[in-house]
Amino acid sequence: MIRRALLGLSLVLGLVGAAQAQGADPSPDPAAWRAEMARIHAGTVDAEALARIDTDLAHTHQGVLTDAGAPYPSLKAAQFTAPAAAPAPVPAPATTAKWTRLASYAEAPKAEPAKPEPAKPEPARPQRTYVGRETCETCHQQEATNWAHTVHAKVFQQNPRTELQAQNCEACHGPGSAHVEDPSDLTTIISFSKKSKTPIAEQNGQCLGCHAGGQRIFWHDSVHDSNQLGCADCHNPMTTFGSRGLTARESINETCFQCHKAQHAEFARRSHMPLLEGKLSCTDCHNPHGSTTAPLLKADSVNEVCFTCHADKRGPFLFEHAPVRESCLNCHSPHGSNFENLLNAPRPVLCQQCHSQDGHPGSLLTAGNMARGPMPDPRLIATSCQTCHVNIHGSNSPSGARFER
Ligand code: HEC
Ligand code: HEC
Ligand code: HEC
Ligand code: HEC
Ligand code: HEC
Ligand code: HEC
Ligand code: HEC
Ligand code: HEC
Ligand code: HEC
Ligand code: HEC
Repeated sequence: MIRRALLGLSLVLGLVGAAQAQGADPSPDPAAWRAEMARIHAGTVDAEALARIDTDLAHTHQGVLTDAGAPYPSLKAAQFTAPAAAPAPVPAPATTAKWTRLASYAEAPKAEPAKPEPAKPEPARPQRTYVGRETCETCHQQEATNWAHTVHAKVFQQNPRTELQAQNCEACHGPGSAHVEDPSDLTTIISFSKKSKTPIAEQNGQCLGCHAGGQRIFWHDSVHDSNQLGCADCHNPMTTFGSRGLTARESINETCFQCHKAQHAEFARRSHMPLLEGKLSCTDCHNPHGSTTAPLLKADSVNEVCFTCHADKRGPFLFEHAPVRESCLNCHSPHGSNFENLLNAPRPVLCQQCHSQDGHPGSLLTAGNMARGPMPDPRLIATSCQTCHVNIHGSNSPSGARFER
């Protein structure tokens, strides 16, 4: 019966000429197989029937490719992975137009009595259970060997502090029984790689289950979270590439440069923070997991970030220079600049952006006074304004009101 149904089915689908060739078979009773298909697609078929159908389908589809050029999906897989539409008697069809057409047959008999079916409990997903690291190892030997050298392996194996940690691989990848049964179906395992079928939120949820606090307290809705980054974009816990943080690349900086090419270029400018030289990293100033200070800064303000290393600029000063107090970025580019000392603009222009209204700064604006002009003025050459105003970040000298000392 089912075989017949399937022959009819492949005809309806217009799958292949091959099926057409078999069209010489006595045509099946349409009402009967429609009912059969309705039953199948309403999710009432037991595992045994499915297995039989699957074998038949495989037989029918032998050598036949989908539009995308892939082999036909297993019906069994389609059955279990279709998103469960809560009260609908028809399981949500898989994505191809063809399965959608199939589903419309399921509706056909229902149209006659027009009696609403009682809402059925959604077909239970087969219960997944933990199978243990040894089982994973039988197929994933290489991954297991690499993983054995990581922080997680040490804690989970030698001194697990919770039930979940003791699950080793499955603490992150979830219970693996269904995956072991059918490894080709990647929807039954929580996966973090590029191939993953697991939604980003679920992937991240898996890590956040253990790592929600601390630095990740502002993860939710942070710029990285809302741009759909996964923890695995920056972390690869499967082996130890870098010295700390299980980063996905050999260093923190390389990890960030995967996406932030423009910043990479900034650190290569003539004057730059010694980051490529290995003296500091992006995470000295940024918290990639989220922050209340844009852009992902590690402290409450730009200045607080800078003071962690340049403590001498913090003061307190007897005479403060207002723009320094406000933000270092008034004069400096934090990553790098083509002007000396990470300055935003060359001197004297830097100072004259704000000081040009009166007094000597204003009278020093002519090009003729520049080093190559006809009347070069020493006040504009070399360190320029700072030849006299040396302590530009602030002064503690009783006569340092103009930062000359
Ligand atoms: C019977 C052999 C077998 C066992 C046992 C097995 N796997 Fe797999 N697993 C595979 C195969 C084969 C694939 C590749 C499927 C593919 O790439 O299409 C795979 C894929 C995966 C992937 C996805 C890889 C990716 O690129 O996203 C993960 C994660 C995974 N397995 C984890 C596990 C874990 C954890 C266990 C133990 C609970 C386990 N596997 C047990 C055979 C197995
Ligand atoms: C701390 C969480 C965690 C644990 C524990 C863990 N994995 Fe993974 N696994 C990941 C992440 C994250 C990735 C994705 C890495 C990437 O970016 O490719 C991954 C990737 C994989 C892959 C895909 C191939 C690859 O390297 O990308 C396989 C297979 C796999 N893990 C198997 C295992 C096995 C087997 C174990 C236990 C021996 C295990 N995992 C333990 C998080 C974990
Ligand atoms: C079952 C709990 C658990 C899960 C799930 C888990 N971790 Fe961990 N992770 C730990 C423990 C325990 C440590 C050891 C250090 C500690 O105690 O903080 C750790 C350490 C780390 C570290 C620090 C490594 C270092 O060198 O200091 C990183 C990074 C990390 N995990 C990332 C992840 C990512 C990414 C995931 C998801 C793919 C993940 N973890 C899933 C428990 C977990
Ligand atoms: C944009 C890149 C990026 C993303 C996304 C990211 N991390 Fe990290 N994470 C890092 C870097 C870089 C470090 C190393 C920080 C250091 O050592 O200074 C780190 C450190 C950690 C640590 C160890 C330090 C600590 O806080 O205890 C844990 C745990 C961690 N990350 C978990 C996660 C989890 C969970 C997610 C996903 C919700 C995640 N990370 C997403 C870049 C990232
Ligand atoms: C997988 C890609 C990816 C990686 C890896 C990555 N980022 Fe990002 N990052 C983004 C995206 C996407 C944005 C949002 C871009 C935008 O709005 O222009 C962003 C934005 C930012 C911002 C600006 C935030 C704001 O409020 O404007 C900072 C700072 C940042 N990332 C730092 C880092 C650091 C530090 C690392 C390494 C630890 C890192 N990123 C790794 C993709 C990435
Ligand atoms: C010395 C501290 C410091 C270091 C180190 C640092 N940043 Fe920044 N970053 C800043 C500050 C401060 C800003 C704010 C700039 C602004 O508002 O104009 C910023 C801004 C950003 C932005 C926002 C866009 C932009 O350029 O203004 C991104 C993205 C970014 N940083 C990524 C990175 C990456 C990636 C690294 C590591 C390769 C890194 N930063 C290292 C201090 C730093
Ligand atoms: C993690 C420590 C650290 C932080 C945070 C930090 N710096 Fe630096 N900064 C350095 C180091 C190291 C040097 C190089 C000193 C040297 O070469 O003698 C440097 C050099 C500089 C220089 C001189 C560059 C040159 O060409 O001589 C300026 C200007 C500067 N930093 C400004 C800032 C500003 C602005 C901030 C805040 C956005 C900041 N720094 C945050 C470590 C830091
Ligand atoms: C009004 C403009 C201005 C502001 C604002 C400013 N700087 Fe500077 N900074 C300069 C100039 C000009 C130089 C180079 C001349 C010098 O002092 O040798 C410099 C040099 C530096 C240097 C390298 C030489 C040294 O003195 O160590 C560091 C580090 C530095 N600034 C840090 C900071 C920090 C941190 C802030 C924020 C608290 C800041 N600057 C705010 C103008 C400014
Ligand atoms: C972002 C604007 C800005 C920049 C750039 C700037 N200044 Fe200032 N500066 C100010 C402000 C605002 C004051 C405070 C003026 C006041 O108190 O009347 C000030 C005060 C001063 C004073 C003391 C003036 C007085 O009347 O007490 C001197 C001297 C000075 N700046 C020199 C410089 C030099 C030299 C540079 C370049 C290295 C520079 N400034 C860059 C905004 C700036
Ligand atoms: C040759 C030394 C010298 C140089 C170079 C110099 N100044 Fe001055 N500057 C002074 C002295 C001295 C005063 C104090 C004048 C006073 O008290 O009447 C002063 C005062 C100031 C004041 C306070 C307000 C005013 O006009 O009296 C500002 C602002 C200022 N200078 C900015 C600058 C800027 C900007 C430059 C670079 C274009 C610069 N100076 C270059 C010596 C210098």
